Amino acid sequence: MGGNSFGTLFMVTTFGESHGPGCGALVDGCPAGLTLGIEDIARELRRRRPGGSGPFSARNEADQPEILSGVFEGKTLGTPIAILVRNQNQRSGDYDELKDLYRPGHGDWTWEAKYGIRDHRGGGRSSGRETVGRVAAGAVAKTFLSRGGILIRAWTSAAAGIQAPEPGETGFDYEEAGQNPLGVPHREIAEKIFEKLEKLKKEGDSAGGVVTCMVTGLPPGLGDPVFGKLDARIAAAMVSIGAVKGVELGKGFSAASCLGSNNNDEPIPVRIGEGPSLGGLPWELPLGIPALAFKTNHAGGVLGGISTGAPLEFRVAFKPVPSISKKQCTVDRQNTVRDLVIHGRHDVCLVPRAIPVVEAMTALVLADLILLNRGARV
Ligand SMILES: Cc1cc2nc3c(=O)[nH]c(=O)nc-3n(C[C@H](O)[C@H](O)[C@H](O)COP(=O)(O)O)c2cc1C
Repeated sequence: MGGNSFGTLFMVTTFGESHGPGCGALVDGCPAGLTLGIEDIARELRRRRPGGSGPFSARNEADQPEILSGVFEGKTLGTPIAILVRNQNQRSGDYDELKDLYRPGHGDWTWEAKYGIRDHRGGGRSSGRETVGRVAAGAVAKTFLSRGGILIRAWTSAAAGIQAPEPGETGFDYEEAGQNPLGVPHREIAEKIFEKLEKLKKEGDSAGGVVTCMVTGLPPGLGDPVFGKLDARIAAAMVSIGAVKGVELGKGFSAASCLGSNNNDEPIPVRIGEGPSLGGLPWELPLGIPALAFKTNHAGGVLGGISTGAPLEFRVAFKPVPSISKKQCTVDRQNTVRDLVIHGRHDVCLVPRAIPVVEAMTALVLADLILLNRGARV
């Protein structure tokens, strides 16, 4: 099976099935000399873990990473970094009855139609558990980016049809997003969403939502025309996450109903150090090219596929969790119509757990582009 590797210079391969011995990542191309501790990775993995109660999956695992190679005395060696996270809380028996059934909304039939075989336990590699490897690798990329002052922050901006305020709107509080288990930047709205998810859980149903991501400290100049555009890479990275159904960059779909005169971001002159952050990375504007900032950021920090130095902003839409305990109708391997009630431990809404996954995939795109950019010009 191909398609498990990501990146050109900062290369990541993830591995593992939901109910196999473990999941993880091999990161090849991380520069040497970076300070990297097990806690840098463990911290991100804790953010991805199921909540264990309320509207979250009851699967409860320590998700303690082991670094098998590539780090010596707390510093990266420039050699492949192998990270393993052992699966510890599988209850594979929960999935016995799904062996010959195809779950609506899941990849069971398509995977079998392609390979003729699938690990049905917990969805195998099509499980949300697969994101453990992404988050572990993303933690390495984040550590690399943070050295250059690049900060990636994501939060739940909508769930179960309830919208939270966006940055700049009354009540938006990023600190609050780190305090409540749903990652919502507004306490009362988080409580409202929580109540709605509890109700859905009782009804055996699930809900979708939206994650917003913002990156600050990015230097201008990241991204390659034409197929390697920064926005194209971000979109591809996001859609590679299970259950993602849409990505909006900057104003996204609402730009389609704007006029050019109110959508364009007008540039304003700045002196280096006063305007957009240059990220603290070894990046200089070419001789004779002025530094610019922008009055607005409707473009979401990308023009012509290349970063402007303004915050990179995008939103990712997740569909409702497909595994629900409400009775559904499906077909089995004998092509017989069957009723299906899914047991097992599933999230009612996967959005809060997807926040570190969105951040990790963003970090992988950006770390790769920063390394690629070192060969951009003489
Ligand atoms: C963090 C995360 C957790 C997930 N948890 C579940 C889950 O508990 N149950 C489930 O059926 N799907 C879950 N999914 C979604 C499935 O992985 C996904 O819907 C499935 O692979 C089908 O792929 P598609 O929705 O992209 O077409 C999760 C996805 C992510 C990213």
